[in-house]
This record gives sequence, structure tokens and C-alpha cells, in this order.
Amino acid sequence: MQANENTFLRNVWYYALPSHQLKPGQMLTQTYLGQPVLLARTRSGKVFALHDICPHRAIPLSCGWFDGEEVQCCYHGWRFNSAGRCTEIPSLMADQEMALSRFDVPQYEIRETQGNIWIYIPEQDKSKAKPPQFDIPTIPGFADQPPNLVTTIRFPCFIDHAVVGLMDPAHSPYVHRVWWWRSSQLNDEIKWYDPSAYGFTMRRHKMADSMGRIYWLIGGAPEAEIQFHLPSIRIEENATSRHRVCNLTAVTPISETETDVTFAFYWTLPWGWMLKPLMRYLISAFLGQDRDVVAKQQIGLKTNPILRFIKDSDTPARWYYQLKREYAQAMEENREFVNPVKSEQLRWRA
Ligand code: FES
Ligand SMILES: [Fe+2]
Repeated sequence: MQANENTFLRNVWYYALPSHQLKPGQMLTQTYLGQPVLLARTRSGKVFALHDICPHRAIPLSCGWFDGEEVQCCYHGWRFNSAGRCTEIPSLMADQEMALSRFDVPQYEIRETQGNIWIYIPEQDKSKAKPPQFDIPTIPGFADQPPNLVTTIRFPCFIDHAVVGLMDPAHSPYVHRVWWWRSSQLNDEIKWYDPSAYGFTMRRHKMADSMGRIYWLIGGAPEAEIQFHLPSIRIEENATSRHRVCNLTAVTPISETETDVTFAFYWTLPWGWMLKPLMRYLISAFLGQDRDVVAKQQIGLKTNPILRFIKDSDTPARWYYQLKREYAQAMEENREFVNPVKSEQLRWRA
């Protein structure tokens, strides 16, 4: 059983946005975990993130101007550099001295890797804020290559329901009922899972041909491995003797009621570009079905129910909540994270 409570995991990296959405000299505003964040890329290409509220009179800094180096507030022209340092208060006379550091804006740590921007969200209470505990997981074999295709869809729910919905192995025959994905007949599924860094991994296995009619495009049924990593990162590798198609799904809490799901594809298919329009359509259709079902779920969640998890099809969801709780506790108690997942064979029908 799982109480229906909304607790954000902090002191972790979240997916912020695809790199190509932020060009040199540009800034934009986004909300993460209910907090407004200004994201900008300097002329030299470095991405930075600041709390998007002017410390003077609370106007979003993103309403102002960015010259490629510094942000200037649109109300009284105060200036801030990429570290959040206040560098100028134009209304001060030459003889009016003031320690500008009193007005610094909180800065967020940012990493950019494989065409994605990640943001580190620490605990709000400064005494509980920790430095990053882990490296952002990357797609193996693609060096610093950006994704071939990336799409983001907003789900109208708290992050947990998006994550659990995406890792749930029993919903496909009901939610993804489309001819190109699979038949409606239920099959026995047996998969091994092992603990892995800050999460768990579905052991590498040969995909059944019946799993999808699109596999012939990449040279037959691939071997697949699916990894889940806290807070909400799923990496799927599919490899045949000829090609590799990998997928990063990253879930970002925007607020308690909105969550972004980003689906980034990496492939070695030389003709993959031809598939892009079709893939874009299929991903939107597929993720749209996941979004629509969690939208319906909101009706029931308003009654604040206890959620019932069953074996084995809800075991990954249970692990997700256990991992989240353990991580938060380990941070709270200043100790090493101990992965609560044990190797296990899971069996379900889907
Ligand atoms: S509100 Fe930003 S400078 Fe006054
Ligand atoms: Fe789904």
C-alpha cells in the first residue's frame, strides 16, 4: 500500500531541457519543483541557472535583458552575472557605497551532457543541502553526441504518477491499444531485475518478436536492457548485431500538479533521419496515451486514497517509492545510500 502523498526528492539532478532549446546569448524561464528558474547560455556557450526573482522587488529577472554575459532587471536595472553576483545598482551615486554581495541571487548547479541540460535541486533548507551525490547517467556508446530526436510532453500530475505510469509493465495492453505496437492478447512475461546505481536494471534479454512490429527496421529483435536511476531517469538500450537504438526518458517535476516527460532517442541508424517525422508522431501518440490515463487518474487521486500495489507487476513501482524514501533518509541522516532493491525474477501477464 502506498499513501497518496506528494513529496519531491531533493539533492538530486533533474532533467532541465534539451541543449538545443537554449542558444548562445538566450535566456528563458522555467519552473522546477514549484520554483521559478532562469536558464541562460552565455555568448561563449556556458549554461547557467539563477533563481528567477529579483532580490530588490521580486520581478522575475527573465523579464529583463540578457547581454550574453549578465542579466539586467527590467524594473530598476540591477545587474547580475552568471554566478548570481549582483554587479551593479545603477541608482547608487558614486559616493554611495553598498556591499552588492548582500543582493546576490541563488544559483543552481548545471551540467550539460549528450545534448541535455541537467539542473541540481538541493534541499531548500540550507543546512540540509548536499553537493551532488552521483554523476548523471549517460547513454553508453554515444560519447557527447546529442539525441537524434527529443520530445517533451507535459503530464497533469505529480511526478510519482508519471514515473510509476511509465515503468508499469501491466498497462500497455489497455493504454497503448494501437495496431502498430502490439496485439491485445496477453502474454506471460518473466524478467530478471538487479540492483544498479541508485536504482535497478531489467537484465539484458532478447526481445520477443511479438513485442513490436517495428523491430525489423533495426535488423531483427534486439537485446534490451532497461535501467532506472533516481530520481526519475530511465535508460533503455536496444542492440542488434547491426544497430543500437537507445532511449533516455527523464521525468521533471514542474510543480505538484505538472510534470514534464522528455523522451530522447539516440541511434546508429544511418537512415534514421528519414524516420524522424514518423517517430515524432509515434512518440507523441504513445506518450499522449500515458498522459491521458494519468489525467483520468487525477479524478480518483483527489479523494486521497491509499494506493494498492500488487506482486509482481507493481514491484518496480514499489521499488521506486523505496528508493526515494531511502535516498531522502540517507541524506537526512548524513549516511551512505543503501540500495533497497535485491535481485529478483518478476513475472506478470501483459
Ligand atoms: S525589482 Fe529588480 S531592480 Fe528593482
Ligand atoms: Fe505507457
